[in-house]
Amino acid sequence: MEVILSTLGCLSLLLVGGGIVEGAAVKAGNMSKLEDAAYFHIYYGNTFKVIKNDLDGKSYLLIQLLGLMPTMKGITSEKVASPCLLKLYNEGELQMLNNSEPQQFSQYAAHFVGDNNNQEPQACNYITFVPMDEQAPLQRAEWIKYLGIFANEEVRANEIYDAVKSNYMCLVNSVASKALKPVVAWMEFNDGVWSFTEEAYKLKYIEDAGGENLDDSINKITYNISSIEDLELLNAILCTVDVVIDGTLTPDPFGYNATLFLQNINIEDKSCFGFLSYQSVWRHDKRLSTDLALDWFDGAVSQPQLVLADLIEVLFPSGNYTTTYFRNLLKEEPPISLGPEDCTRDTFTAMEPTIITCA
Ligand SMILES: *[C@@H]1O[C@H](CO)[C@@H](O)[C@H](O)[C@H]1NC(C)=O
Ligand SMILES: *[C@@H]1O[C@H](CO)[C@@H](O)[C@H](O)[C@H]1NC(C)=O
Ligand SMILES: *[C@@H]1O[C@H](CO)[C@@H](O)[C@H](O)[C@H]1NC(C)=O
Ligand SMILES: *[C@@H]1O[C@H](CO)[C@@H](O)[C@H](O)[C@H]1NC(C)=O
Ligand SMILES: *[C@@H]1O[C@H](CO)[C@@H](O)[C@H](O)[C@H]1NC(C)=O
Repeated sequence: MEVILSTLGCLSLLLVGGGIVEGAAVKAGNMSKLEDAAYFHIYYGNTFKVIKNDLDGKSYLLIQLLGLMPTMKGITSEKVASPCLLKLYNEGELQMLNNSEPQQFSQYAAHFVGDNNNQEPQACNYITFVPMDEQAPLQRAEWIKYLGIFANEEVRANEIYDAVKSNYMCLVNSVASKALKPVVAWMEFNDGVWSFTEEAYKLKYIEDAGGENLDDSINKITYNISSIEDLELLNAILCTVDVVIDGTLTPDPFGYNATLFLQNINIEDKSCFGFLSYQSVWRHDKRLSTDLALDWFDGAVSQPQLVLADLIEVLFPSGNYTTTYFRNLLKEEPPISLGPEDCTRDTFTAMEPTIITCA
């Protein structure tokens, strides 16, 4: 299928993510209006395709929600978390493109890139797509409208975002009046040093789920476990914590278990650790592909209501909700590996967002 580059012109579009999508003619009047997202602006072109450029499919789920999968023609990364995308690739419907050979991209109208720093001088058809830079969960999800604009699917993009947002807000309200707010430490271990997260969207998730982040008065962020003073401070802080989310990146998620977590904490006397007595140490790597791409960076971006529902279960366990993204380390929950066989729908139909029951 031919796509005419000049239809997009050479606007310096700043859009991140990937896949190739072909569009129809622009329907004037059907435009998306932004409510929450802070990092994108709206531009219109006539026809387009999208190509995945960066790691782990940040926008693939958005593409699936819009029903655009059949029009995706190429990707540049084999690190893909989406089972349906893997299926399409296995069926030969998707071409693997080589980032080092820019001429491969010239046939497409638009090439969505995940990072605006790593590219050579960019051709007109490069578009940066950066939902991950947004500061709050809903802002990230609203990037579906951004893709919708390129696919002339504004109406569906608006509907999906409205459904996701209203479900998310309903969940927020369902826990807003909880008097007891569990204290959560979202932390990562790197090179012998623990650090508490400063990522705004994670802090926002905890607040929205009815939890409390570590006290702002704790202004030291990093703790070197080889330092006795640091260990004492870390020990004191952890004694105030009810729930730990261990966001440590690892090349071996299956091998990351409670033993390793406790070893990394390196504190002998654990008697004051509430999160151990409540058995509440979690990781957000429950869903990953066979080649270890985390769905946290893909599906979770577009369906923040699922992450929030997980966190509400983490903070206020009902015992009858199965989390999607979080696994309990202390209960020895293993990650779940997803392959093309886990794509249960026809790749030619749009995916529907999962709406959580919410009173
Ligand atoms: C906007 O989209 C709707 C639904 O896709 C369609 O019925 C309507 O004709 C469109 N409006 C314009 C002005 O194209
Ligand atoms: C991509 O292209 C570069 C430069 O042409 C080449 O050296 C490299 O082997 C290619 N990679 C793959 C995976 O084909
Ligand atoms: C942690 O502390 C040890 C001992 O003081 C030191 O050798 C090491 O470089 C520190 N690590 C980092 C990442 O600062
Ligand atoms: C944790 O993993 C390590 C190595 O991956 C293994 O030796 C150990 O037995 C595991 N611990 C538990 C409790 O499964
Ligand atoms: C399980 O869920 C049902 C409705 O979804 C609710 O009525 C019930 O109270 C829940 N059970 C527990 C133990 O929270």
